[in-house]
Amino acid sequence: MARIIDFGPVPAIPGARRKAKPAEARGLAYTAEVKAATDALYPLVEDFVTPMEWPAIAPLVHGINTLKKQRNAVVLAHNYMTPDVFRLVGDFQGDSLQLAREAARTDAKVIVQAGVHFMAETSKILSPDKTVLIPDLRAGCSLAASITGADVRLIKETHSGLPVVTYVNTTADVKAECDITCTSSNAVQVVEHVAKEWGVDRVILLPDEFLARNVAANTDVRIITWHGRCEVHEKFSGEDVRQIRDAHPGVIVLAHPECPPDVLEEADFAGSTSALSHYVKQKSPHKVVLLTECSMSDNVAAENPGVEFVKPCNLCPHMKRISLENIYDALRDMKHEVTVPEDVRVRAKAAIDAMLALPKMATPPGFKVHADLAQLVVM
Ligand code: 13P
Ligand code: SF4
Repeated sequence: MARIIDFGPVPAIPGARRKAKPAEARGLAYTAEVKAATDALYPLVEDFVTPMEWPAIAPLVHGINTLKKQRNAVVLAHNYMTPDVFRLVGDFQGDSLQLAREAARTDAKVIVQAGVHFMAETSKILSPDKTVLIPDLRAGCSLAASITGADVRLIKETHSGLPVVTYVNTTADVKAECDITCTSSNAVQVVEHVAKEWGVDRVILLPDEFLARNVAANTDVRIITWHGRCEVHEKFSGEDVRQIRDAHPGVIVLAHPECPPDVLEEADFAGSTSALSHYVKQKSPHKVVLLTECSMSDNVAAENPGVEFVKPCNLCPHMKRISLENIYDALRDMKHEVTVPEDVRVRAKAAIDAMLALPKMATPPGFKVHADLAQLVVM
């Protein structure tokens, strides 16, 4: 396992505040059968779960894996899940684009979204015949909450004739009003594609102001955007990067494009969660810092034992609502089903399909760093 050096205060991760007997409370026990079935899994999380804690967790893991078989279910785990969820019960792991592709492809009957609500909606939009469950209905997103379908209709009235691109971090209602979706993996590709297809020099890109600013710095297409922010990434600043570099000379700084542009100006590389993970795997830097959600460092560190990680810990309160306990409960009771009205689903699907039809990139691309701040219109 890689060495992880905390930078700044370390908040308590909900998984670490797990109730004393989560398995027993659900009638599950650490029997010889459970032990035999889960012993091989322990090394995957031995840096995050102590041997003392394992007997409390293993029955939940076994219970989830048994229920998955019974229900023909898969767990789609976003890169921001805690390592127990990500490594022990996730059948597919990745960024929002990879999880959307997986939701469209899977043969399973049930999808459990170990992520946030907009991701579960995306799965339902792409796989209407499947049952999509979210372990906690409160797992939202500040970007998705920043804009409504009615807002988009007003924007279209005031900017008619321009294509509307929406980040996948939005509700189905918002997607239904847009021409195409994008993720942080393909935002520049999508913006340039629609500008060319529509024969225009400007595009509306909603709702993340910082992602839009960072996209604008990477293209000649002019961008009109909204004032949404990710409550996790907006906390990072260029000053943070300078402090990290002072404390850790030689550290390689990687940032997510939902961070403010002054962070990308100071970073060595920027990209989606998968692009950051790919960078670490390919380049094996001696010491690295990931300016994104806290758990991501743990998940990437587990796969890159030779790399040292400096870890500033900004938690996404929505992602952190998902736990082994509520994944088990969701599968046991088939609860918190996510549905999307059919008329909305069909229109939202057209926007997602337009994105998925674009050529798949061999490696997740990076954003330009040290770029000048791009000008754009924020509504
Ligand atoms: P990715 O698409 O990079 O996985 O990002 C999703 C997200 O919610 C980032 O905050
Ligand atoms: Fe939304 Fe930010 Fe959380 Fe991602 S990290 S789900 S963008 S609030």
